[in-house]
Amino acid sequence: MAKMKIPLVDLKTQYLKLKNDIDTAIQDVIDSTQFIKGKAKEEFEQDFAKFCGSKFAIGCSSCTTALELALRATGIQKGDEVITVANTFTATAASIVHAGALPKFVDIDENTYNINTEHIEQKINDKTKAIIPVHLYGQSCDMDAIKELADKYSLAVIEDCAQAHGAEYKEKRVPVSDIGCFSFFPAKNLGAFGDAGCVVTNDEAIAEKVSMLLDHGRAKGKKYEHDIIGFNYRMANIQAAILNVKLKFLEKFNEQRRKNAKLYNELLSGVKNLILPVQADDCKHVFYVYTIRTSKRDQLADFLKQNGISTQIYYPIPLHLQQAYKALGYKEGDLPVTEKVSKEILSIPMYPELTDEQITYVSTKIKEFFS
Ligand SMILES: Cc1ncc(COP(=O)(O)O)c(C=O)c1O
Repeated sequence: MAKMKIPLVDLKTQYLKLKNDIDTAIQDVIDSTQFIKGKAKEEFEQDFAKFCGSKFAIGCSSCTTALELALRATGIQKGDEVITVANTFTATAASIVHAGALPKFVDIDENTYNINTEHIEQKINDKTKAIIPVHLYGQSCDMDAIKELADKYSLAVIEDCAQAHGAEYKEKRVPVSDIGCFSFFPAKNLGAFGDAGCVVTNDEAIAEKVSMLLDHGRAKGKKYEHDIIGFNYRMANIQAAILNVKLKFLEKFNEQRRKNAKLYNELLSGVKNLILPVQADDCKHVFYVYTIRTSKRDQLADFLKQNGISTQIYYPIPLHLQQAYKALGYKEGDLPVTEKVSKEILSIPMYPELTDEQITYVSTKIKEFFS
């Protein structure tokens, strides 16, 4: 088999396919000179809310800021605790700290890599005010179990949907609870050409609070009247214009990702010592990444690199063992499944435009490594 060069993600091919529409959308914003607030952002907010099956979507500068805004809008304060996981991007936990609270990490389920709902209750105390389930890799958490606990203890639920645009739980697209926060970082299932994010909710009061907070705390419809001290966490209109074009293809792109994952599953099934991604009952996975697992992870990554295949580890050091979160007082051994998995996971190339030939090449090389 001739050597191929396969990147982990390929943003260029998708751009070239949509180039005319995207370039026109960008030019329209430039011509309108509506760079901050504008028609494109309003259109995106309406259409993305509809895509999610929710009432409101509020464009933000990133998912990091969206999470912070969502936490603040639910009334999170200094001294509060928020439950989440440690096998996520730092932004999930950083947003909790930015909002003044402290993250409390719960271990994960070894099959789905999402929060182990059986371990949540033991971490709840008087200070606990919210849960941030992270729909990792494109698959929803077990939301019924989370909602049951949230109801029992009156906790807010803010879903980190950064990797899960269009993912479903019991045939409802995420978010399925109070609030969801999305990232439109370029490589995501729906990606802008820079940073962008949004908060999605059915709760009008939350939507209004988030809208006010992200725009300098302006009173509704007023320019220089500020009811609260806010932030500048707005989504740029030009990013919204790009997202409007791409949103129309999101369903199709997600289906292509699922088809690619199915082919990987078929070609890699039965390989000894290799664990493939598991789609949980009740979930529709949208494969932001396709993550495999093996105790020979580092050797496999080296072998694939030598064969022109890029890979990535999401995430090599769990947050509770990162220098940045040292003050929280966690130590090795506190989250055994998270720690074990972080040493074994490897994400291989995944994007809608990946061809069957490329998938076959990657799979052949993986099988060659294990043979
Ligand atoms: C799970 C998760 N949460 C939050 C974020 C932060 O998103 P953003 O880069 O838009 O701030 C990311 C981005 O990679 C993420 O993967």
